[in-house]
Amino acid sequence: MQVYSFSPCKVLIRNNLRRNEARIQGNSALEAIKNRAFLGVFGRVSALVAPCGRKRKRRTFVSLCLATGAVFGGLADAQSGGSDSAYSGSASCQACHPEQGASQALSGHANSLARPWQHRLAETFASGSVKRVSDRGRVRLRIDGKSAAIETSAGTAADSEPADWAFGAGEQAVTFVSRVDRDWYLEHRWSYYAATGALELTPGHQATDPDESGSSTGIRYRIFSPRAEILNCFGCHSTGPLRLGNGYSIVPSEPGVRCEACHGGGATHIRAVAKGNLERALALIRHPGRLPPGDLNAYCGACHRPPQSNPEEIDWGDPWNVRHQPVYLSRSLCFQSERGLSCLSCHDPHTPLVRAGTEHYNARCMECHAGPVSAPAAVCPPSEAAACSSCHMPRVRPQAELEFTNHWIGVYQAGNRLQPRR
Ligand code: HEC
Ligand code: HEC
Ligand code: HEC
Ligand code: HEC
Ligand code: HEC
Ligand code: HEC
Ligand code: HEC
Repeated sequence: MQVYSFSPCKVLIRNNLRRNEARIQGNSALEAIKNRAFLGVFGRVSALVAPCGRKRKRRTFVSLCLATGAVFGGLADAQSGGSDSAYSGSASCQACHPEQGASQALSGHANSLARPWQHRLAETFASGSVKRVSDRGRVRLRIDGKSAAIETSAGTAADSEPADWAFGAGEQAVTFVSRVDRDWYLEHRWSYYAATGALELTPGHQATDPDESGSSTGIRYRIFSPRAEILNCFGCHSTGPLRLGNGYSIVPSEPGVRCEACHGGGATHIRAVAKGNLERALALIRHPGRLPPGDLNAYCGACHRPPQSNPEEIDWGDPWNVRHQPVYLSRSLCFQSERGLSCLSCHDPHTPLVRAGTEHYNARCMECHAGPVSAPAAVCPPSEAAACSSCHMPRVRPQAELEFTNHWIGVYQAGNRLQPRR
C-alpha cells in the first residue's frame, strides 16, 4: 500500500509563491498557478502534483515530494481510467446520468459545503432558534437575505461577525467560516449541532463564553499559512479547483463533494460521448469501482484519511481518530481477508448514508458470515432484530454532540469501544 501525502508539496509550492508574490502581484499567470496549486486533495488535475509526480524542472519540489510517497492521482489513474481534464460541474453530468445526479444531490457529500442561506438547514438557521444562552452572555446565528452572522452579546456589549460559509451537511454538525481580510479567515467558535439544535463549541476550540466586550469569535487562519488549514477545508468539502477572488476570497468551483471530486474532471469524457466515441469516453473518466479494496480504502481516504503505513503511530485510545473510517476498517480481519470488503460493500457512493439500517448492514455481514465464515449463533443471534454492528462496530462519542461508528469490526469488551479485544 502506498502512502498518500499532500501537505509537504503544497507547503513548498506555497512558500515559493509567497516569495514571488510581491514580484508578480496582479499577474494573472500567478493567479492561475495559485488556483491550481490549492486544488485540494485530488492532485491529478492540478499543477501541484505535476512537479511532484513526474520529474520536471523544479528540483526541490521533486526530491521532497517524492520522499513523501505517491500523490493520489497516479495510482487511481493506473487502475480506474481517467485523464487530466477540465471540470464541467455536476449539472452537466446529471444531464446524461440523471439517476446518480438526483440521488447524489441528497447526500451528505453534496451538501457538505454551502452558503448558510442556501444550506439545506437554511430555514432552521433563519428561524432564530439556533443559539446558545449562558450566564455570561448570548450567541445567536442570524440570517438576513443573502448574509449571515454570528451575533454575541454580554451585558451591554455586543458583536457581530459574518458567517460566509457553512461547512458540514448538518448530519452531525455545521461549522461557520468567514473571510476577515486579505490575509485571514476565521473558523467560528460556535457550531450548530444536530443533536441539540443549538450552538455549541466547535471541536478544537477553547471554551470561553462571550467576554465583557461581547466578542466571541473563534480561530483565525492565515490563507497562506504553512499548513493551509483553511484552503484544505475548502479542498475536501468542494469539487474542482479553488480560485482566489476579490481580496483573496476563496472561491470553490462547486461547493460540496460532487461527481468530479471522485471521477475527476469530465470535460473530455463528455466531448467524446458527444462525438459518438463511447470507447474513448469510458477511458476518459475515472471509474473507482474498478479499484481493488485496499486502493479504494486509500481512495476514499484521500478525504476520510488514508490507512497509515505504520499503525504504531496511531493513538487508538483517542476517540477523535474513530472518524477516520479507512484507518479503522483496515485493521479488521474482515478487511484483511482476501474476500474483498471495501467501503462500497456497505455504502453506495451516490445515495445518502443508510442510517439505523439493521437489515441493510446485517445483509452485508451475512454475505460472508452466513457461509464459510459463519457467526457463532449462540452468542450472535443471526436474527434481523439485532444489528450486528451494534456489538461489532460500536458507536463512539468524542464529544457529547458527535457520534462516529467504529469501523474496526471486531469483538469488543464491555466498556471499551475504541479497540476490540481481538
Ligand atoms: C453527453 C452525455 C454524457 C455526459 C454529459 C456525461 N456522461 Fe458519463 N457516460 C455517458 C455514457 C453514454 C456512458 C457509457 C454508458 C454508461 O455507462 O452509462 C458514460 C459512462 C460514465 C461512467 C462509467 C465509466 C466506465 O468506465 O464504465 C462514469 C463514471 C461517468 N460516465 C461519469 C460521468 C461524469 C462524472 C460526468 C460529468 C463530468 C459525465 N459522466 C457526463 C454519457 C455522458
Ligand atoms: C473530496 C473528499 C471526499 C471523498 C473523495 C470522499 N468523501 Fe465521503 N465525505 C466527505 C465529506 C466532506 C463528508 C461530510 C459530509 C457532511 O458534511 O456531513 C463525507 C461524508 C461521507 C459519508 C457520510 C454521508 C452522510 O450522508 O452522512 C459517507 C458514508 C462517506 N462520506 C463515504 C465515502 C466513500 C465510500 C468514499 C469513497 C468512494 C468517499 N466518502 C469519498 C468527503 C469525501
Ligand atoms: C482531509 C479532508 C478534510 C479537511 C481538510 C476538512 N474536512 Fe471537514 N470533513 C471531512 C470528512 C471526510 C468529513 C465527514 C465526517 C467524518 O467522517 O469525519 C467531514 C466533516 C465535517 C463536518 C461535519 C461534522 C463532523 O464533524 O462530521 C464539518 C462541520 C467539517 N467537516 C468542517 C470542516 C472545517 C471547518 C475544516 C477546516 C478547518 C474541515 N472540515 C477540513 C473531510 C475534511
Ligand atoms: C464519493 C465519490 C463519488 C461521487 C461524489 C460520485 N461518484 Fe459516481 N461512482 C463512484 C464509485 C466508487 C463508483 C463505482 C461504484 C461501484 O462500482 O459500485 C461510481 C460509479 C459511477 C458510474 C458508473 C455506473 C455505476 O453506477 O456503477 C457513473 C455513471 C457515475 N458514478 C456517475 C456519477 C455522477 C453523475 C455523479 C454526480 C452526480 C457521481 N457519480 C458522484 C464514486 C462517486
Ligand atoms: C461492514 C460495513 C461497512 C463498511 C465496509 C464501511 N462502513 Fe461506513 N458505516 C457503516 C455503518 C453500519 C455506519 C453507521 C450507519 C448509521 O448511522 O446507522 C457507517 C457510517 C459511516 C459514516 C458516517 C459517520 C460515522 O462514523 O458514523 C461514514 C463517513 C462512513 N461510514 C464512511 C465509510 C468509509 C470511508 C468506508 C471505507 C473505508 C466505510 N465507511 C466502510 C458500515 C460500514
Ligand atoms: C467480505 C467478507 C466479510 C464481510 C462483508 C464481513 N466480514 Fe467479518 N470477517 C470476514 C473474515 C474472512 C473474517 C476472518 C475470519 C477468520 O479468519 O476466522 C472475519 C472476522 C470477523 C469477526 C471476528 C474478528 C476477530 O478479530 O476475531 C467478527 C466479529 C466479524 N467478522 C463481524 C462482522 C460483521 C459484524 C460484519 C458486518 C458489519 C462483517 N463481519 C462483515 C469476512 C467478512
Ligand atoms: C449482542 C451482541 C452481538 C450481536 C448483536 C452480534 N454479535 Fe457477533 N459476537 C458477539 C460476541 C460477544 C462475540 C465473541 C464470542 C466469543 O467470546 O468468542 C461474537 C463473535 C462473532 C464472530 C467471531 C466468531 C469467531 O470466529 O470467534 C463473528 C464472525 C460474529 N460475531 C459475527 C456476527 C454477525 C454477522 C452478527 C449479526 C448477524 C453478529 N455477530 C451479531 C456479540 C454479538
